[in-house]
Amino acid sequence: MNTASPRRVFPLKLEPASSLSTAERAAVLSACARLKELPGALLPILHAVQEALRFVPKDAVPLIAKELNLSIAEVHGVVSFYHYFLQERPGRHVVHVCRAEACQALGSVALEAHAKAALGIDYHATTRDGAITLEPVYCLGNCALGPSVMIDEQLQGHVTPQRFDALIAPLRTTPASVDSTSPNAGPGNAAAAGVATPIKIYVPRDAAALGLGADETARAIVDQAALRGIGIELIRNGSRGMLWLEPLVEVEVAGIRRAFGPVSAADVASLFDAGFTGSALSDGTRGATGPPVVAGSGEHSGHALSLGPTAEIPYLKRQDRLTFARVGITDPRSIDDYVAHEGYRGLTAALSMAPADIVATVTASGLRGRGGAAFPAGIKWKTVLGAPGHPKYIVCNADEGDSGTFSDRMLMEGDPFVLIEGMTIAGVATGATRGFIYLRWEYPQAKAALEAAISAAYAAGALGENIRDSGKTFDLEVRMGAGAYICGEETSLLESLEGKRGQVRFKPPLPALKGLFGKPTVINNVITFASVPIILDKGADFYQHFGMGRSRGTLPMQLAGNVKYGGLVEIAFGMTLREILEDFGGGSLSGRPLRAVQVGGPLGAYLPQSQFDTPLDYEAFAAIRGMLGHGGIVAFDDSVDMAAQARYAMEFCAVESCGKCTPCRIGSTRGVEVIDRLIAGEHAAQQEILLRDLCETLTYGSLCALGGLTPYPVLSALNHFPEDFVPRQKD
Ligand SMILES: Cc1cc2nc3c(=O)[nH]c(=O)nc-3n(C[C@H](O)[C@H](O)[C@H](O)COP(=O)(O)O)c2cc1C
Ligand code: SF4
Ligand code: FES
Repeated sequence: MNTASPRRVFPLKLEPASSLSTAERAAVLSACARLKELPGALLPILHAVQEALRFVPKDAVPLIAKELNLSIAEVHGVVSFYHYFLQERPGRHVVHVCRAEACQALGSVALEAHAKAALGIDYHATTRDGAITLEPVYCLGNCALGPSVMIDEQLQGHVTPQRFDALIAPLRTTPASVDSTSPNAGPGNAAAAGVATPIKIYVPRDAAALGLGADETARAIVDQAALRGIGIELIRNGSRGMLWLEPLVEVEVAGIRRAFGPVSAADVASLFDAGFTGSALSDGTRGATGPPVVAGSGEHSGHALSLGPTAEIPYLKRQDRLTFARVGITDPRSIDDYVAHEGYRGLTAALSMAPADIVATVTASGLRGRGGAAFPAGIKWKTVLGAPGHPKYIVCNADEGDSGTFSDRMLMEGDPFVLIEGMTIAGVATGATRGFIYLRWEYPQAKAALEAAISAAYAAGALGENIRDSGKTFDLEVRMGAGAYICGEETSLLESLEGKRGQVRFKPPLPALKGLFGKPTVINNVITFASVPIILDKGADFYQHFGMGRSRGTLPMQLAGNVKYGGLVEIAFGMTLREILEDFGGGSLSGRPLRAVQVGGPLGAYLPQSQFDTPLDYEAFAAIRGMLGHGGIVAFDDSVDMAAQARYAMEFCAVESCGKCTPCRIGSTRGVEVIDRLIAGEHAAQQEILLRDLCETLTYGSLCALGGLTPYPVLSALNHFPEDFVPRQKD
């Protein structure tokens, strides 16, 4: 008789029962199988899982960890770092409400309160019927047309509480992820069959225009043309940047483009009735340099929305469009159109030059980084060119997290080839063979435009091996961020690209020497790269002829918040802030006096009227303890509460801190509490001393500029608008 007790089998590792269904488990494993060989695979895998399942389930984490040979803690750490990844199953629709400054200037605080009350939930919660999950977001790149909301992937502008209710109502009954929310849902380019010379009609596919109904307008144009038997070619262009006129429709007659705007779908039939496809409309009159044209002002005969030849509109005519030369003009998906409009001339020139000469040309142009720190681009490139190590990388910072900025978005959507060309030139100049565009998730239209343009560039031999028979190789891909402001900081971005939490790295070593995956890396902003092709094409002298002092060339300023005519204004450095606000912006949208302007994003100072005559120049702004940053200008009228703005700046730092250093991680939270006590009048004098002391600690004790510059908006509000910090009876 066998007396041995029966053998008990213990699993080597106890695996708790998973809550994943078979289909969910298969989706997670499929994402891992497809993507795990990518360098920095974790973020792409998490995006794929969230795309498939609409969230990243808790029990997906161990599966992913196992597939990538990472610890569960590492994967969980990444999932929980990024605001975009949802850890709970969301409702059928996810509604993101913008909380950032430019939308605040246009009424988003009231909208937030309304949204929460109307849905009966707070942020990060789902309505009881399972229809809607409400999430906050910090800027959607629609800062001139706020308050802004994103419903699933569809941006919406001018969202008043009433419009919010109207947008939300159908979501209660519609299923998740309907096609109409996808970035390519609207009509694309279309030509009438059998018509010899169809009339070209342009309707932007820019996200801001879509947020005001450009797809519906385009659809109505196609329908009306078909109904009337008029042959048209519909071209989905980028935006001209006159955002208050969106959707801006252009009709090309006899080689001249005439503008109409803002054109809603309901206006389209009347435009056809008035003969707009045959230029039957007269152009009206307007001052050459005065405030921009106002649609429907009665200046135009024929149709109230007629604006005359687009190129003659003063808002555009007064600009120096170098980087944005093609935006709104060409078809962003057509490489032929790009080449027909002087595209790829810069690369052609670069391919005939020695790398050191390309770098010398960029240095001589005076181009400084447009992402905020204004470091000379040529010097960075020279360091990478001379750095030992292989491979080398080119990384484009397309994280554009600053409230009040949208130039990167507009450029990527309106002329993606110029960015691709600029990055390719950077590769040729430094010996880098691979590039990444790190793009924020909030920009789905930009992603679609970039991916289409990258495919077209590969097909045309302008990317990949042996570019244009030069023997040079340059590969390029888009990688998505996941909603972390700090990932705009270059070292944090590199960590994120490597598939990690976006925590800031110590410097040195500089990314130019030890960057992505430890290799020499050029990292530049979208606008920096996009400014390079024209420099190579027309020469350093041409470019550096624009500007003032050490600020050479042009800067695409973005006019946002409470201004009448918000939009993109590319001008040479040197114009004053007041000129921009008044000549272009036309003053406040509300009609009340402008009281404060924040320049340079959430870390920029609030400037009072007395500083409006500061020229737009890096050094002039530094002299008043401000910064130009990425060129965002956010205007507030006299109803603004500057104590609330200071509090928001501290709160933003607390929400977005990467957590690496104490002054920022803890100090920002304490800062909010101190400001609350100051506003409440609890020992106000001591609170002010404490706040100033805390700001000093943040300035000198922070590792990066998120903590280091948060005192700019806080102290500028306190110093320039002390009356708002005095306790008072609030309504
Ligand atoms: C908190 C923080 C956020 C930043 N966000 C961005 C950003 O969204 N886009 C950007 O290009 N640069 C951003 N920067 C600047 C980058 O660190 C870096 O200077 C830039 O990518 C370099 O490119 P450039 O020289 O072309 O400007 C940020 C910096 C900090 C400290
Ligand atoms: S200052 Fe803030 S964001 Fe920057 S490294 Fe320190 S903790 Fe991170
Ligand atoms: S879209 Fe709201 S601040 Fe930019």
